[in-house]
This record gives sequence, structure tokens and C-alpha cells, in this order.
Amino acid sequence: MRVLILGASGMLGFDLARVFSGRELLLSDLKIEGKNSATADITDLISLRKLFKDFKPEAVVNASAYTDVDACETNPELAYAVNADGAGNIAFCANELPNCKLVHVSTDYVFDGLDGKPHSESDTVNPLGIYGKSKLEGEKKVRALAKNSVVARTALLYGRQKINFVKKILERAEKKLPITVPDDMIGSPTYSLELARIIERLIDRGEPGIYHTVNKGWCSRFDWAKKICALAGLQASIAPIKSATLISAAPRPLFSALLNKKLEATIGDTMKPWEEALAEFISKDLNYNARP
Ligand SMILES: NC(=O)c1ccc[n+]([C@@H]2O[C@H](COP(=O)([O-])OP(=O)(O)OC[C@H]3O[C@@H](n4cnc5c(N)ncnc54)[C@H](OP(=O)(O)O)[C@@H]3O)[C@@H](O)[C@H]2O)c1
Repeated sequence: MRVLILGASGMLGFDLARVFSGRELLLSDLKIEGKNSATADITDLISLRKLFKDFKPEAVVNASAYTDVDACETNPELAYAVNADGAGNIAFCANELPNCKLVHVSTDYVFDGLDGKPHSESDTVNPLGIYGKSKLEGEKKVRALAKNSVVARTALLYGRQKINFVKKILERAEKKLPITVPDDMIGSPTYSLELARIIERLIDRGEPGIYHTVNKGWCSRFDWAKKICALAGLQASIAPIKSATLISAAPRPLFSALLNKKLEATIGDTMKPWEEALAEFISKDLNYNARP
């Protein structure tokens, strides 16, 4: 099966490349060039169409996005160009090919989190900031333009590639710096390798539709930070704060835990509880067990 991964230099893109390594693979991004790779700007429909026509993918995963949540507030044009129109371009190209399946990755930030309950796929969306609004537009375009498409909403990603919450906490703990994190922001931490694994199963077996794809369960950032340090065997001084004391450009949902209801009801939810996935990342990807 020929698989095209868009956003291949990103955190999820890196793990998708690991999971799909046994397939005929084309990795694509703004800056990737080399064997089995191509530079492509998803906002440029003409060159994207050429890429699709040349490679003729049987499956496409869109892991590309403008993911800087705060920067989206000051640059909404770029946010909509990439997260909404770019996603629509990909769907248009995928739909032109016979039997090409598309998995488009979206976010828990399509919810406002105001009711303090974990969300299933059928819950009402109401994004608070530009990032979530532009991603929701992207979902709608993908669903409208590509009949054979899966939208996979995920949350709080961490992985080997790029700086992320888990790596930041470990870095501060290693340096014995104090750590302060909100205890009132709740979500479902998700290991990007686990997400890549479920995306592979969705390509092979998933019916079109919207799926929540997170590691099971949820926690506050404070509990997450404590677990990270405990699993790495690091002593750390971690203090809870309230999110209202943080200065950030973008509004964020306070409670954005997701439930993988559609996975459960269809191909089966094989995603691990968040603590188990975190343990796998810290021991296997970051080799903490092997450290003196
Ligand atoms: N990270 C999270 O916590 C989180 C949470 C929920 C959902 N998600 C979703 O999960 C997906 C993957 O996120 P991630 O954290 O892996 O993202 P990431 O590490 O920021 O990677 C995004 C990738 O998209 C590429 N990209 C940006 N604009 C592009 C364009 N115009 N054309 C082609 N490529 C472009 C980026 O390239 P450059 O590096 O060259 O800019 C980068 O490689 C995204 O859809 C995101 O919205 C992420």
C-alpha cells in the first residue's frame, strides 16, 4: 500500500514514519527532501495536486498543521490557510484518486470544556480560540470534500520528536529547577507513537467518520508532571498553580478530556491508559531505565 504522510517532520509525523516503515512510503513536509520524501506546502493546491497525481497514494495521513496555539491568535490568516484551507486542499486531492483513504488529525480544542465532562465524538463543539476554530473548519472541509475520510481528534501529544510538555518537565527536573504547573487544566495525554499505531489501524479497518483517539483517561497538568518525574525516577519540586495566573494569548479549554467511544464501538480501542503509554515513552524512547 502506498502511503503519503504530510507533516512528516513534525512530532506525530516522525512516529507515523516509524509505524508505516514497512509500506511504500512518501514523507512530505515544507522542508523535507531526500529519498522517499518531497517538499510540499499544503496551502498550494497546484503543487499538492501534482504530488498526489505523481505518487498516487492509496492512503494519506495529514499530520501537518499550524500548531502554535498562541501564535494562531496573532496570525489568524496563516492559521486558517494551513489548518482549514490546507486540510481542504488535501481532501480535494485525495478525493480525486480512486479509493484513496484520508486520515486527518484534529484536536480536543474544538471543545470549550465548560461542562467539565469528558467528550465523546457526538458532543457539541465550540472552540474558544483561533487554533481550535481553524482546526474545526479543517474538519468540516475534510468531511465535505473527501468521502473516504477519517477525522482523528487527539490531545496533549508528546513524543520523541520536538520539544513537548514531557521533555520540558524532565529537563527542569534534571536541572533541579522548581516546576509550577496548573492543577485545573485537565486533558488526556497521548503518546504520538500510540496515535500513529491507531491511525494505521484506522487506515486498514476504519469506516469514514470522526473518531477520538487519545490514551485512556485524563489528568491535570500537575498530576501529569508528578507522574513524569516518578516514572523517570527523578526527585522534583513540583507546585500546583491556577491556570488563570498564566499569561497566554490564546484561550484554552480547562477540561478537554476525550472518550474514544467510536473506536470502542467499531474497530476496538487498543489505546493504552495514559500512565502506561507514558511509561513506555519514558523507558523505551527516552531510555530512562537504562540511565545510571
Ligand atoms: N501537539 C499537540 O499537543 C496536539 C494536540 C492535539 C492535536 N494535535 C494535532 O496533531 C497533529 C500533529 O501535531 P504535531 O504536534 O505533530 O505538530 P508539529 O510537530 O507542530 O508538526 C506540524 C508539521 O506541519 C508542518 N507544516 C506546517 N505548515 C505546513 C504547510 N503549510 N505545508 C506543509 N506542512 C506544514 C510543520 O512543518 P514546519 O516544522 O516546517 O513548520 C510540521 O512538520 C496536528 O494536526 C495537530 O493539530 C496536536
